Amino acid sequence: MNTAIGRVDAASATVDALIVIAVESQVPRFSLPADTLLSHLYESGEFKGKPGDTAVIHAPQGMAAKRLVLTGVGKSAGDPAAVRKAIGTALRLAKSKAAHTVAALLDGESQSEACVEAAIEGAILGNFEPDLHKTDPEKDAQRIDSFTLLVPGGAESLDAAFERGRILADSQNLTRSLVNEPSNILVPSELARRARAMAAEVGLECDVLDEDRMRQIGMGSLLAVAMGSDQPPAMVILRYRPAKPAAEGVHLGLVGKGVTFDSGGISIKPADGMEKMKYDMAGAAAVIGAMRAIALLKPGIPVTAFAPMVENMINGRAQRPGDIVKTLSGKTVEVLNTDAEGRLILNDAITYAQREGCTHLVDAATLTGSVVIALGHVNVGVFPNNDELCDRVLSSAKRQGEKMWRMPMDDEYKEVLKSAFADLPNIGTRHGGSISAAHFLKAFADPTPWVHLDIAGTAWLDEARPHLAKGPSGVCVRTFVDLAMNWQ
Ligand code: BES
Ligand code: MN
Ligand code: ZN
Repeated sequence: MNTAIGRVDAASATVDALIVIAVESQVPRFSLPADTLLSHLYESGEFKGKPGDTAVIHAPQGMAAKRLVLTGVGKSAGDPAAVRKAIGTALRLAKSKAAHTVAALLDGESQSEACVEAAIEGAILGNFEPDLHKTDPEKDAQRIDSFTLLVPGGAESLDAAFERGRILADSQNLTRSLVNEPSNILVPSELARRARAMAAEVGLECDVLDEDRMRQIGMGSLLAVAMGSDQPPAMVILRYRPAKPAAEGVHLGLVGKGVTFDSGGISIKPADGMEKMKYDMAGAAAVIGAMRAIALLKPGIPVTAFAPMVENMINGRAQRPGDIVKTLSGKTVEVLNTDAEGRLILNDAITYAQREGCTHLVDAATLTGSVVIALGHVNVGVFPNNDELCDRVLSSAKRQGEKMWRMPMDDEYKEVLKSAFADLPNIGTRHGGSISAAHFLKAFADPTPWVHLDIAGTAWLDEARPHLAKGPSGVCVRTFVDLAMNWQ
């Protein structure tokens, strides 16, 4: 899909579908004969302009477009999150009706930098389909060739906002395409290769630690998980350095769980739904996507991403329940359940990030089924050891329309993390499982300010939404980039 920003008036856009944002109970007006059709539509009660409302009008009089697609934003056309969804919803609707050329009009309140950024994001994210491996020739019939965002009379600064939105959404789609890849194709070495290719394209420094290097430095916890697979592990490190650092002494580290397939290991998972465990690398994919955008948007602070990549499998060398492993930090861990592997790879990555000099850490991980019980598929679980960094993350998430919810981290929750034989067990009890998992990581992250994001419930959409296809969501990419861009 080619994308552009344009300033021609809505009436002269020659497209298959022109998307028009509609505020609740306010009939859009063009001072054209088509206004009568719009009045009829509103009078019929068929369309109210509520979020999710859509209507299609064919051959609008006085306009060059073949169809108008009205899309509701609710109370305000100036709310970027509502605009992002409304544009995504309308674009997917236009696509389902075989429109190939699409434009969307942003005027009045929605003609702000934030809404322009959100609108192009909505279009690019809405256009993503997880159909790379389908060979159906029909799929070309429903393909949008061009999308133009119309901002008649809009300021020049909107062009930069449009470009930012395009970079963010393309980066988030890179994350989604990585998450969507099946585990036979996307083994750890392949994920590392794709991260390296992205880095070369946008000019990031990239290092990949291999198994030998990990053994040399003592990443015994990550290696214990990797042992059960015939696929070698990798840890990708992506470095962005600003030309002139804006904030003295700050170095942001992003850590992402990269389990390319989670069978559970010897503590094996039930067969039902196991195919979904290809998305257990969504945290790693999120930091890779975020680093792409960071390289292109150039924030004022240094940012380094750490993505440990392994496959959690069961061969003759697989780790056993009861094994005791030595982590990079020197702490020992009793592996009571081989399915709690995320925290085993993340603790070594967190220690490594601290040794690289990161002053602030944020990790994203599909860490626990327990967070899905707590927050469902709506909010990312946020587990901080530091209020200030937590507030920064939550503000970025809010600005970017990514729903996140802070969870309690009282010390009482860590009482279940007691082992008779090692410093820590790798599991607690079932109750509050996402919190004891976070406490396990906190034992390694302290005293560095750190926020853990559990994306097990939000990285994958089991059902398509009106504005997004089924499958990988790419959650956290926009929040990570916003966090780096707005550090100050
Ligand atoms: N990758 C899973 C968590 C997960 C569950 C992600 C559902 C996405 C959807 C993780 O490695 C895991 O298996 N966690 C266990 C931990 C338990 C053994 C303490 C879980 O949540 O069941
Ligand atoms: Mn697991
Ligand atoms: Zn896992």
